[in-house]
Amino acid sequence: MNSNITSSLSSEAIHLEDQYGAHNYHPIPVVLTKGEGVFVWDVDGNRYYDFLSAYSAVNQGHCHPKIIAAMTEQASKLTLTSRAFYNDVLGKYEKFMTELFGYDKLLPMNTGVEGGETAIKLARRWGYEVKGIEKNKAKIIFAEGNFWGRTLAAVSSSNDPSSYAGYGPYMPGFELIPYNDLVALEKAISDPNVAAFMVEPIQGEAGVVVPHEDYLKGVSELCKKYNVLFIADEVQTGIARTGKMLACDHDNVKPDILVLGKALSGGTMPVSAVLASNEIMLTIKPGEHGSTYGGNPLACAVAIAAMQVVIDEKLSENAERLGVILRAGLSEINSDRVTAVRGKGLLNAIVIKEKDGIDAWDVCLKLKEKGLLAKPTHGDIIRFAPPLVINEEQLKECIQIIKETIESL
Ligand SMILES: Cc1ncc(COP(=O)(O)O)c(C=O)c1O
Repeated sequence: MNSNITSSLSSEAIHLEDQYGAHNYHPIPVVLTKGEGVFVWDVDGNRYYDFLSAYSAVNQGHCHPKIIAAMTEQASKLTLTSRAFYNDVLGKYEKFMTELFGYDKLLPMNTGVEGGETAIKLARRWGYEVKGIEKNKAKIIFAEGNFWGRTLAAVSSSNDPSSYAGYGPYMPGFELIPYNDLVALEKAISDPNVAAFMVEPIQGEAGVVVPHEDYLKGVSELCKKYNVLFIADEVQTGIARTGKMLACDHDNVKPDILVLGKALSGGTMPVSAVLASNEIMLTIKPGEHGSTYGGNPLACAVAIAAMQVVIDEKLSENAERLGVILRAGLSEINSDRVTAVRGKGLLNAIVIKEKDGIDAWDVCLKLKEKGLLAKPTHGDIIRFAPPLVINEEQLKECIQIIKETIESL
């Protein structure tokens, strides 16, 4: 059984973070020390189902033995050369990834937000050199509700005050349109100065917002029609999370620029990647973009292993099949607190109406008591995104925990 009493071990860890760390997060009060597969353990030995998967970075499950083996093997050999020299893993990784996703070239970075930045730099370059946009006039269009990280460029494209407020002045050349609105998209991108539209196939941080069925097809067609690059930010939705290798695969569309991150390393280290055609990628020349750690041999070895696990263990298929069961189970919760259930594959969310002073945060605390960890977003939404290695029996146990918890409130 999981205890809700904060032990001295966990209060000590919480105190240290509180005292010596910046207060830029508000974690659920649980102090984790170990992870394996779908489970994590706190410092007092309590076991929990992880229903967040580090925001979909741990799709392959915690400390997957094949990923850890590749990591330790490479770590004992060579970890970092910088791109001042070649290393003997980067090329293999780039070949593997470009063949897997069907692109000419890959540009390696570390965090997801660096992937987004890279995509936008590429789009601006392409806009000037290929599309012929006048110098410094390029525009990038984003959808309201987007989230792609915390750099100044990323928050400049955000319409969420908790992301952007107090950080101005903001990046020029960015424009926002409503998500899931093809009419607004056509109007925006008919401007000849637009280089790209960057969009998440499902908006993760906005609360798992799934667009209508034809949206991505429409985005792809409109971008082609107006000679605008379609950038898909699949940092959260990619790598099997939604039941296909890419969320774009559900709609059979291929973005011009694909951004991957998070689960690309199976939750072991920051690894992101931008994939594109030669026409786009070769607009950036030596010395014009990069990162000390981008393309390091450790990251490359880990990423190959992490992707191989996704393929070998058929994690897309598992996510697709279990996602249907999860949403069906969540829809059967007999409580007027649950006002919506939505998602695709194993990227799901429920919306909780506050009642009698109990909100989504309190629901997450109760779930924690019952051995399941989840975190609210935007006050009233709880994301349910377990590692994709979860099996049906475990999932059904989790559905029962969620159902009992919410119905007992
Ligand atoms: C869709 C999307 N893009 C980009 C990012 C940024 O990734 P990172 O936190 O690794 O910079 C996130 C993070 O949650 C994300 O959800």
